[in-house]
Amino acid sequence: LTVLSVVGARPQFVKLAPVAAAFAATGHRHLIVHTGQHYDTRMSEVFFTDLAIPTPDVHLGVGSGTHGAQTGAMLTALDSVLAERRPDWVLVYGDTNSTLAGTLSAVKQHLRVAHLEAGLRSFNRRMPEEHNRVLTDHAADLLLAPTDAAMAHLSGEGLAGRSVLVGDVMTDVCFGVRDAVAGTPLPAELDEALGGEPGGYLVATVHRADNTDDPARLAAVVDALAGLDEPVALLAHPRLVARCAEFGIDLARPGLHALPPLAYPDMVRAVLGSRGVVTDSGGLQKEAFLLGVPCTTLRTETEWTETLAGGWNVLDPNLTQLKELAARPAPTAERGTPYGDGHAARRTVEALEAG
Ligand code: UD1
Repeated sequence: LTVLSVVGARPQFVKLAPVAAAFAATGHRHLIVHTGQHYDTRMSEVFFTDLAIPTPDVHLGVGSGTHGAQTGAMLTALDSVLAERRPDWVLVYGDTNSTLAGTLSAVKQHLRVAHLEAGLRSFNRRMPEEHNRVLTDHAADLLLAPTDAAMAHLSGEGLAGRSVLVGDVMTDVCFGVRDAVAGTPLPAELDEALGGEPGGYLVATVHRADNTDDPARLAAVVDALAGLDEPVALLAHPRLVARCAEFGIDLARPGLHALPPLAYPDMVRAVLGSRGVVTDSGGLQKEAFLLGVPCTTLRTETEWTETLAGGWNVLDPNLTQLKELAARPAPTAERGTPYGDGHAARRTVEALEAG
């Protein structure tokens, strides 16, 4: 088989890591196309280096833009790459504009598409990611679902015949990295920023359009983080930094430590050492759950509903309970293994072989 993975944004590099390793263990040919949606070293290159992902075979260098401009530029560039390579499968990941572009370009050239992380739904039609997911699932030929809940969504949309439960590939990589970083010192930049402050700290990230693009909402989010009792390490996505600069919102507040994005192993280490996570990221909600750290999510809903069981993750869209929620101790409830056993990448390869 020749399989061509299309990736472009940070969470997709994390998902690609175990998949690329699983392909390397077979005789299949695996090509990687990087759209260039994320291009900062800390958003892209470090993930390839730290997670030992092969250098992309093709880099489209598309960069930022409006949704239309960005997706359109990817489509144009992917049309010629896919026409030239004609893989047996195009593998797309998650819910970004890179996912949708890879899917559309492939299906219109009659290339088979497999969607990894299929079936997630927020049911929030304001999210660009929700449209990317739904459109991708309905166009793709093979839907690789991470959870039973995702399988149920696909079935409800009439897609059961094309769906396979493989588990969650982010769990594969999260557990591997956790075992490697457990017991190591905190990342130096984090340790320095916290200034050896005694007691616990919180890890925070904010990047969703709904939290960052409206000045009043963004100011309220930053104020709420600055008002927490524990020191907060705010690992700042470029979008957050750009919007704060644009709206004149100061991130430098007492107790709020804005840091550049961390590399994946550093992030896992930071979460392991923290008292809690405050985020609007899907991946980080799940990583907190997997690592046994309580999470508070600054959104009205979550795609990873399994994290809510037992209070491991709590939604606080209105920021009304953030102070208490962020300081709550880890729940005692068992977490179970809703995200699979850490072998989702191997099952992904098997599903492509069978399909
Ligand atoms: C994208 C995904 C989102 C995912 C997130 C992970 C879509 C619609 N959204 O959102 O689902 O959770 O990636 O991070 O695809 N920028 C930089 N350097 C970079 C990348 C981005 O400075 O390397 C800045 C630019 O100002 C850009 C903005 O961030 O305009 C937003 O980037 P973009 O890729 O459009 O969307 P994300 O917010 O990262």
